[in-house]
Amino acid sequence: MAQMNPFDQQRPIPGVKRILAVSSGKGGVGKSTVATNLALALAKKGLKVGLLDADIYGPSLPRMTGTLQQKVALGENNLLQPLERYGLKLMSIGYLVDEDLAVVWRGPMLFKAMDQFLREVAWGELDLLLVDLPPGTGDIQLSLAQKVPVAGAIAVSTPQDVALTDVKKAIDMWARVQVPVLGVVENMSWFIPPGSTERVQLFPKGSLDRWLEERGLMKLGEVPFHPNVGLGGEAGIPVVESDPKSAEAEAFAQIAARLL
Ligand SMILES: Nc1ncnc2c1ncn2[C@@H]1O[C@H](COP(=O)(O)OP(=O)(O)OP(=O)(O)O)[C@@H](O)[C@H]1O
Ligand SMILES: [Mg+2]
Repeated sequence: MAQMNPFDQQRPIPGVKRILAVSSGKGGVGKSTVATNLALALAKKGLKVGLLDADIYGPSLPRMTGTLQQKVALGENNLLQPLERYGLKLMSIGYLVDEDLAVVWRGPMLFKAMDQFLREVAWGELDLLLVDLPPGTGDIQLSLAQKVPVAGAIAVSTPQDVALTDVKKAIDMWARVQVPVLGVVENMSWFIPPGSTERVQLFPKGSLDRWLEERGLMKLGEVPFHPNVGLGGEAGIPVVESDPKSAEAEAFAQIAARLL
């Protein structure tokens, strides 16, 4: 019997020109923060952008975009209508399930949910669908790569080697599923304490730059640590929206420009 190719199910999403994944092996390095601000920075450059929160167990998008209490409804053709905020089209499991309830699903349920988020949402015409992934190299990442052609992946890291170890795993995973890695965003790269002009390293600088060079991979940008980035995430107004002239927002604008 011929062996089934797991990528046989791969089909584009009609109307969606490109799908990009934002990932990292490590938790808490700022994937969702980067995905949200980058989506906004790209939208400000004139692209039609959708943002899919693929973190089924720990969705962040509703809080980060100020859409916490909102729910999505079925529209025409039984498709879920994505929410619209700050010019982005948004979808998250958080719009279907209450925030404080745990989603306790096994692999097959995750595959089904990913299918619905990709195919049964009225995404419309998009230049770009950014997918914010959970940490790790598991079912959700695999299911995305199997179901749709992913044009590229962006890995997020913090400067220290303990994060790099996990980024290497994420990059290895993308290579195995034949998704090109567009580069790495270094988040929380530096911090300027109040009253100072000197950059302080919050984390020890590891070997990320050297490793990227050896692998021929690009550093897409460095995002400073700034309390406003965290506050923006809590308040639901990403810093690119609330303070577009800040150094933090500028860092996201540069990453967007590089991606384009
Ligand atoms: N550059 C930054 N400056 C200040 N705070 C930041 C920055 N980047 C992220 N944070 C904060 O760090 C925390 C973790 O960020 P975030 O949720 O984006 O990480 P994540 O990688 O998506 O996490 P998870 O692995 O749980 O999905 C959040 O409170 C966020 O506001
Ligand atoms: Mg996240």
